[in-house]
Amino acid sequence: MKRQIGQVFTPIKWAEWLINKWNIFDAWLDGAHICDPTAGQGAFVLTMLHIARSRGIPITTERLSRLTLIEIVPSHLDQFRKNVQQEFGVDFPTSQIFCQDIITETHTQQYDILIGNPPWANFGDLPTAYKTEIKPYFVQEGLVSDTQRTLLGSSRVDIAALVLKVVLGKLLRKNGLGFFYLPTSLFFGDGAHNGFRNYNADLRNFAVDTVYEFTSIKVFDGVNTAYCCAKFQGDTQQKFPVTYFKELDRNWVEHKALPLKNPADPWRIVQNLDELKAGATLEIRLTSEQKPRQGVNTCGANSVFIFDHKPSHLPQGFLYPLASKEMWRQNVLSPHKWILLPYHREIGKPLTWDQIKKYDALRNYLQRYQDQLQARKGTMLRASMNRGSWWAMLGVGPYSFAPFKVIWQAYGKNQFNPIILSSVDGQMWQGNQAMHAFIPCWCEDDAHRIKTALENPEIPILLRQLNGAGKCNWAQPGKIKKMLSFDEVEK
Ligand SMILES: C[S@@+](CC[C@H](N)C(=O)[O-])C[C@H]1O[C@@H](n2cnc3c(N)ncnc32)[C@H](O)[C@@H]1O
Repeated sequence: MKRQIGQVFTPIKWAEWLINKWNIFDAWLDGAHICDPTAGQGAFVLTMLHIARSRGIPITTERLSRLTLIEIVPSHLDQFRKNVQQEFGVDFPTSQIFCQDIITETHTQQYDILIGNPPWANFGDLPTAYKTEIKPYFVQEGLVSDTQRTLLGSSRVDIAALVLKVVLGKLLRKNGLGFFYLPTSLFFGDGAHNGFRNYNADLRNFAVDTVYEFTSIKVFDGVNTAYCCAKFQGDTQQKFPVTYFKELDRNWVEHKALPLKNPADPWRIVQNLDELKAGATLEIRLTSEQKPRQGVNTCGANSVFIFDHKPSHLPQGFLYPLASKEMWRQNVLSPHKWILLPYHREIGKPLTWDQIKKYDALRNYLQRYQDQLQARKGTMLRASMNRGSWWAMLGVGPYSFAPFKVIWQAYGKNQFNPIILSSVDGQMWQGNQAMHAFIPCWCEDDAHRIKTALENPEIPILLRQLNGAGKCNWAQPGKIKKMLSFDEVEK
């Protein structure tokens, strides 16, 4: 299992594009030692050899001795050697090929240039045993502050962040350079990637120098993640703005990237520094209970908890209208979906089994799906389930049952339209997982005040600068919380 981590191979055409963009081939000819630390089948090294051949430059033993591959999957390296033999009639030196885990195993050599495409996978999606094995390295590299946090909140840290920190910190010679294809979440992700953006690895600084973000060009087929390629400078302090090229209709348009407020914050990108005025004046007063929230997360059990039609056989008091896209599209505030929340609405906690037993239909219904519900994964959910509540969900608390919600579409949009929802027959509207985010309100006037404040046209401008338009993190609660200077909001 461990051996299938984040494999997205770089097409030769795009390996060549990156090599040419930053004159890496010439650096090699001039004597640089180059390593792909997560080499897969060696697309980048193979491309260097292709370029040599096309330029009539001999592939000498000395030149080969300055190309190194590291990869965890042995068969990829075998395939690479076979390809080199077939295409170039050369035996690639085994002394330059290392089959090892770059995170957990020591690599003693250092290189002038690191190149490649680190694995693309969220920590949370890794095989459990491997997660346990590499958790201490996430902590060691400053990607999460302690083991507990990795366990709970930071499962969205990308393993690419860890690999980059390891290789920039340990494998780079003094003032060396790194060139990588990467998920853009390292620069724009909230929370999970703050630890990457301390721009320090193994007590050495590194700086992001230039980024090229792809939008319509498909470098990697079938990849939904937004990606870029970036140049890193070792032993250099990070300075802003970073030169940021964004591909707009196949043209590279130069932008500047800067952190939102604090140095480790997600970046915002602008063409002109004057645009940074957006968001400078946003302020909105909220109480500590009004932290922006995501909708309810059934943790993979939507088919059990969510209904297209309100089921008449279940106790009506536990069925709540669920927000859906129609409400923004057609401006119709009648429910298209319903969600079952076997919760105590006053305290926002799951009902106890004794309370559930009072409702035969509810008990029978949940029991029918007990195995499925108990098999759900996720560390935070498991904490609830370990307390016996296998019918628990994430994102449910007293805030879910506030009489008013100022709610907006938070995922994959490029418009920011908060609306006010209250209840249907006394049942409060709920947000659907990451699709929606909301601020709970306990009185209607407050909801109107907050909605009006959120309608500030600077908010969508700032959200676009934060590069989330059309992406999964468009207007997620953490981002909105950070954008506005909330008074009294607890951390
Ligand atoms: C995104 S692929 C890129 C491969 C190659 N650089 C390319 O661009 O075609 C990442 C590679 O890293 C390997 N990998 C994942 N975790 C690794 C680790 N801890 N140490 C070394 N290699 C690893 C995967 O097996 C995969 O081949």
